[in-house]
Amino acid sequence: MRHTKVKSLLNSETTISEVNAKGWVRTFRNNQFIALNDGSTINNIQCVVDFENTPEETLKRITTGAAVSVTGALVESKGAGQKYEIQVSKLEILGDSDAEKFPMQPKKHSLEFLRENAHLRVRTNAFGAIMRVRSVLAFAVHQYFQEKGFVYVNTPVITGADAEGAGEMFQVTSLPLDNLPKNEGGNIDYKKDFFGKHTNLTVSGQLEGETFAMALGQIYTFGPTFRAENSNTSRHLAEFWMIEPEVAFNDLNDNMDLAEDFIQYVIKYTMDKCSEDLKFLEGRLADEEKQKPQAERSEMSLLEKLNFVLENNFKRVSYTEAIDILRDSTPNKKKKFSYIINEWGADLQSEHERYLVEKHFKCPVILFDYPANIKAFYMRLNEDGKTVRAMDILFPGIGEIVGGSQREERYDVLVEKMKALGIDEEELWWYLDTRRFGSAVHSGFGLGFERLVLFVTGMTNIRDVIPFPRTPQNAEF
Ligand code: 4AD
Ligand code: MG
Repeated sequence: MRHTKVKSLLNSETTISEVNAKGWVRTFRNNQFIALNDGSTINNIQCVVDFENTPEETLKRITTGAAVSVTGALVESKGAGQKYEIQVSKLEILGDSDAEKFPMQPKKHSLEFLRENAHLRVRTNAFGAIMRVRSVLAFAVHQYFQEKGFVYVNTPVITGADAEGAGEMFQVTSLPLDNLPKNEGGNIDYKKDFFGKHTNLTVSGQLEGETFAMALGQIYTFGPTFRAENSNTSRHLAEFWMIEPEVAFNDLNDNMDLAEDFIQYVIKYTMDKCSEDLKFLEGRLADEEKQKPQAERSEMSLLEKLNFVLENNFKRVSYTEAIDILRDSTPNKKKKFSYIINEWGADLQSEHERYLVEKHFKCPVILFDYPANIKAFYMRLNEDGKTVRAMDILFPGIGEIVGGSQREERYDVLVEKMKALGIDEEELWWYLDTRRFGSAVHSGFGLGFERLVLFVTGMTNIRDVIPFPRTPQNAEF
């Protein structure tokens, strides 16, 4: 007999004379009631064991974490909290779990402890919910772009280019590190390396994505990206997933429209598909908020926050306006910011971004037209000669969730910019070709998938929304 998922059993329209379920024991109460979870839903199914007719030996093996197979009738439950339960007639222990040693005890664990047990934390309610939500969000990303006729492009993970020009890359090499080949000049001879050149893990698929947009019109990437930035924060990962759409003939306004529509779509899609998981996560967040002092508590519940994003336009504000607001803000005047904003041109820190979103505008904000010299080389220079057609989307509780721009489509201007920044033209000859042959206005953005998952799940540390986080000093599992 094929086993049925707990989710289907709980949603059954009728009682059933015999069903089989397989899963992991969450708790076993009174030698009688198993709370069984199989990952198909946040909810457990109650399995009632006929303890008088079950050998003592077997009962002892029904422990938290054990894998079991139960067969019996699906009957209406007399207990509160569930519509159906299984009246067990046959129980098989598939895999024992030593109750003394199993780390996921049926009690509240700290998130730090759970991170150290990332291989088992997914067996908890919270992490099961987070990972299901993550999966549905990923599907929604594809659904959105596919419905709109975008082509999904798989850009390379290993690359010679530094797409962001920020030098935060992990090197890829097969050279022996303890015996590096040297050239005549005494430098490392990368001609002897696997690819015959210096290579890295990609920080962004954008540059390759642009070449595809200039042929296929509208494309998106969705893949892992890597940053060797030593940022030990709750918003940064060394390995994260990025979604990068790129659209020919779109200007910066079209780009903002696309980003806003896209974010609202995937959130709506996930709210429709994951209502039970989100309800659970809303409760989790409410509990967490209760630990905070009143003044720091969020005014909105998780679902209220998500609905707020769906129902309100993102506020579009130029960098210059933002600087004026920040300069005149109370935390700036009272020197409460770690970085005081004095003049135009300052790079915004997350404290500033969060002030704008959470305190000043109280809604998602799109900042645009940043100073050229704090942004990447490929962004379209404005007529003023000092700002670029860049946009960042800032979210409450998250800060920057999207970074994007209209691209510099003019060959000469781009080459000049690269020269000024010391970016190797020869390395990017293929990128420059897009500007030499049929160049046109085009735009795109990158959305950090984990930051989106953070927002939707109401979690506060990015390490808790990716299965196995990679951060400085940590690559366990
Ligand atoms: O702003 P970034 O660096 O932009 C780019 O990489 C562009 N090439 C995107 C494009 O225009 N196609 O990164 C984009 C987004 C950020 O807004 C942030 O959400 C996320 O990627 N991100 C990170 N997420 C987690 N950990 C990190 N270390 C991240 N760095 C960036
Ligand atoms: Mg950015």
